[in-house]
Amino acid sequence: MLTYKQKEVLEFIISYQNDNKVSPTIQEITDFIGVNSLSTTHQHLESLEEKGFIKRHKKQARSIEITEFAKKVVNIEESSVLPPAKTTKVEKILNTIVQGDALELLRKLPDQCIDLLIADPPYNLSKGMSLKLASGSLVGTGGNWEKVMQKWDDYDLLGYMEFTELWLREAKRVLKPTGSMWVFGTYHNSGIINTLMQLLGIEIINEVVWYKRNAFPNLAGRRLTASHETLIWAHAGKKRKYTFNYDFSKSYSDKSDELKAAGKQMRTVWDIPNNKERFEIALGRHPTQKPLKICKRMIELTTKEGDVVLSPFSGSGSECLAAKLTGRDYIGFEIEEEFVDLSRRRLDQQIASQESLL
Ligand SMILES: C[S@@+](CC[C@H](N)C(=O)[O-])C[C@H]1O[C@@H](n2cnc3c(N)ncnc32)[C@H](O)[C@@H]1O
Repeated sequence: MLTYKQKEVLEFIISYQNDNKVSPTIQEITDFIGVNSLSTTHQHLESLEEKGFIKRHKKQARSIEITEFAKKVVNIEESSVLPPAKTTKVEKILNTIVQGDALELLRKLPDQCIDLLIADPPYNLSKGMSLKLASGSLVGTGGNWEKVMQKWDDYDLLGYMEFTELWLREAKRVLKPTGSMWVFGTYHNSGIINTLMQLLGIEIINEVVWYKRNAFPNLAGRRLTASHETLIWAHAGKKRKYTFNYDFSKSYSDKSDELKAAGKQMRTVWDIPNNKERFEIALGRHPTQKPLKICKRMIELTTKEGDVVLSPFSGSGSECLAAKLTGRDYIGFEIEEEFVDLSRRRLDQQIASQESLL
């Protein structure tokens, strides 16, 4: 599968070769695609080579060769993007965490098979992988954010946009017309997600502010204490057929949410502390683990019992556990073995003792 940036690079090389009878230099490609560093261009070329679209002759300038395979793909815009594999039967992976890359795993799902997708994707917060403070370097936190400093969260901006576009396209494809999706974010990524949704024809239904009144204080004292995350609720259907349990939204109350009283309409600000109950972290911690309470609220608002909830970046499995505890089925995708193990243990043990968790 080619990303749109890889397609752009490939198309540029082809048209340059047609015009000039030699291939462009790395610098010319870099200038054309408008990135700042040559290394980003090198990464795109490496991917194109791995995928069989080009061959490079090391240490030789202007030596990029377009392969026969690439030449056969006449309309690069559409037909070189590999069609979705769609080989996985949903029933086979129901109520499991599948280890792997969400982009690949999503492609294997059939069209319109998911009722609700809750994406807690990498936020792209972990720039440079450590936070420098006057008092030294602090790993594992940052600003007011639980800055995660994880490799899986560190992209360059264009790379992050490509990654987001790819998974959003697949999310749109796999959702049922009655389905919808929730996406967690902060200012680092929510603008990108919002814009791409609009470009991809994914209609935003609401933007919810998750107010975290117990937010981590700002250690450097150079900006406000960030105390919220942004949740985007969107649907992909042509018509507005998505599930919304209005009665639930109205009757819902929770003593810790000072902005929601039973009988009042639910607002787009949710007052939910980011604390985890002791049982939620009893088997291990994830650096960006979400409280079960927020996942359950999303699920109960926007699905029916027996529906299928997909969590494509499942981490410690909070969304999956919330689905099972509320009588839904789940599918989780997670790339890191450590978190796959943690979530499987969590789901096995906590679903077995669910009575005591509700
Ligand atoms: C923000 S965390 C999700 C945390 C989760 N909501 C929880 O409560 O534990 C994102 C997760 O996505 C995983 N991840 C990152 N890139 C991925 C990819 N391409 N495919 C699948 N999982 C990925 C990371 O390993 C990380 O565990």
